[in-house]
Amino acid sequence: MMRMAKGAMAAKGTVGDLSHYFDETPSVESAPQAVRLALPDLTLDLTTDRGVFGRAGVDPGTKLLLLEAPVLAPSGDLLDLGCGYGAIALTMARRCPGAAVWAVDVNRRALDLCRANAEANRAANVRVATPEEVPDDVRFATIWSNPPVRIGKDALHQLLDRWLPRLTNDGAAVLVVQKHLGADSLATWLGQRWQVERLRSRMSYRLLQVRPT
Ligand SMILES: C[S@@+](CC[C@H](N)C(=O)[O-])C[C@H]1O[C@@H](n2cnc3c(N)ncnc32)[C@H](O)[C@@H]1O
Repeated sequence: MMRMAKGAMAAKGTVGDLSHYFDETPSVESAPQAVRLALPDLTLDLTTDRGVFGRAGVDPGTKLLLLEAPVLAPSGDLLDLGCGYGAIALTMARRCPGAAVWAVDVNRRALDLCRANAEANRAANVRVATPEEVPDDVRFATIWSNPPVRIGKDALHQLLDRWLPRLTNDGAAVLVVQKHLGADSLATWLGQRWQVERLRSRMSYRLLQVRPT
């Protein structure tokens, strides 16, 4: 495989040294970095790292979701699908202390960061887990996700086909996707299975709400 020239800009979706943010065990050397997530209702001091999504700071799409998504279900099980270092999961947990927030990812470094960030921010209601560790009978009142579009269209569809059917009957998911990464075609695909509403379109991002039909 071709190696990237040192100093060259990382290819889209890579996080240096040909490591991807969705690798189970990132090969790029760890270099933790502090980031602050400041929202009107709460502030979180978080640690991110190389080898995970959002190493440079809170992703603008993630921030849009956290600012604009409708109010969360106050209790029950909530899911951050693809939690990374935990910006979404911890916000859900702080906004809904009565809920159990599942923070799910495949990247072990991201899961470790999310666990440590939950502890540091006293978000005791976050349950950090690999996809396989979430019991099959758990149903989610809310799913929020900045999904891993870079895994490819088929893999992304499989991922959403796995988790969206686990919404409760009156539950809702909110997904943030960049327009140039296929937000509109994803909305069309989602609309063939679920009720889809375009909640916001800001900068290059689309905020999609998905409900069971
Ligand atoms: C775009 S990033 C968003 C990370 C974080 N939620 C944020 O907003 O900063 C998508 C995340 O999905 C994770 N991911 C990739 N494939 C996954 C899968 N099959 N199941 C769960 N998470 C996955 C990636 O490792 C990555 O952390």
